[in-house]
Amino acid sequence: MNNVFVDLKENSYDVIIKKNSFSSLNKELKERNLYGNILIVVDKSVNKTHSTKIEKFVKSHKGKIEKLILDINESKKSFETLNKIYDKLIKKNFGRDSLLIAVGGGIIGDICGYAAATYSRGIQFVQVPTTLLAAVDSSVGGKTGINFGSVKNIVGAFYQPELVLIDFNFFTSLKEREILCGLGEVIKYAFLSNNEFFLFVQANIKKLLKSSSAQINKAVYESVLFKAGVVASDEKESGLRKILNFGHTFAHAVEIEKKHQILHGEAVIIGMVAALYLSNEKGLLKESLLLTYLQLFDEVKDKIKIKGLDKKKIINAMKKDKKNRDGKIKFVLIKEIGNLILDVEADKKQINNALNNAIKFFKN
Ligand SMILES: NC(=O)c1ccc[n+]([C@@H]2O[C@H](COP(=O)([O-])OP(=O)(O)OC[C@H]3O[C@@H](n4cnc5c(N)ncnc54)[C@H](O)[C@@H]3O)[C@@H](O)[C@H]2O)c1
Repeated sequence: MNNVFVDLKENSYDVIIKKNSFSSLNKELKERNLYGNILIVVDKSVNKTHSTKIEKFVKSHKGKIEKLILDINESKKSFETLNKIYDKLIKKNFGRDSLLIAVGGGIIGDICGYAAATYSRGIQFVQVPTTLLAAVDSSVGGKTGINFGSVKNIVGAFYQPELVLIDFNFFTSLKEREILCGLGEVIKYAFLSNNEFFLFVQANIKKLLKSSSAQINKAVYESVLFKAGVVASDEKESGLRKILNFGHTFAHAVEIEKKHQILHGEAVIIGMVAALYLSNEKGLLKESLLLTYLQLFDEVKDKIKIKGLDKKKIINAMKKDKKNRDGKIKFVLIKEIGNLILDVEADKKQINNALNNAIKFFKN
């Protein structure tokens, strides 16, 4: 599979997308002069199944290298976990000439990215995403950060990695639920990019859910390619990059309301369905297209447990969204594939209706 180049002038980097690419990580680091003092931070679940290849990398590294294994979940995307990374870096005398490698899903990637952005005023950073979601979304684009209390990703920084290395071998140990989460973001790109990719996702959704390699490869490549293009034209989300938040205003609120029992990717799926209904409510999306687009979720909707979702609490959480301006909730809505409208405001009744319809959709 081809690599993708994220073109950000002096902050540019490659995304290597290839089975077994982790085995050549040392070579890739050397080629980019990233071969320094390394702290490799590994998700505990990843280490459980993939420790042999991670140890092989550690042993083959000629310079100083330390490994830190972290047990994470969304509620541990916190200062406490961040401090464990700083603590290791300080105790082991890591200076500015250090490289932090994150091996894990979006949580490890986001925390490590923020640690790299802030330690010694910034050290080099490499992402090795091990979930489908992290591969197609969080590892590319330089958004890093942690949660504070119940507020998601509120402390953070834009900080680009030097390299992203995606090795499909890591996906073999993912649970179906995690594949579903990644698929949520892939579906998002299907709406944002073009009809060809939308039709590909529609035709292959069952195979994607089963993590069939040919389909996953194409889905990852197309998603990363699309995201790289958006990030290259708007690194700091002052305009176009906001389209990547399609479904996310609802999603972040659902995650908070369910105290992270609904995972990020699942919440994105619910959020996109709500955003489709809201787009229709606002007169942007025709009824016929709404019905066509909703069919894309037929294979996944039974897999998402929305029992007990409290609409009022979701709306309250949305009011605290960091994307709001002047106290107004902002949505990314859709007219048709590839035609998204940014910063749309909606009244209470429209938001209520969209949420009611989305909840009904997942209950059926
Ligand atoms: N920075 C961004 O642009 C961006 C974009 C999207 C999402 N995010 C963030 O990403 C996070 C979600 O990422 P995620 O879905 O990867 O979640 P995650 O990091 O929690 O990983 C999901 C689960 O899979 C386990 N895991 C990871 N890799 C595995 C593997 N190869 N085999 C077996 N188990 C494995 C983890 O331990 C965890 O239990 C959220 O915090 C979200 O806010 C960030």
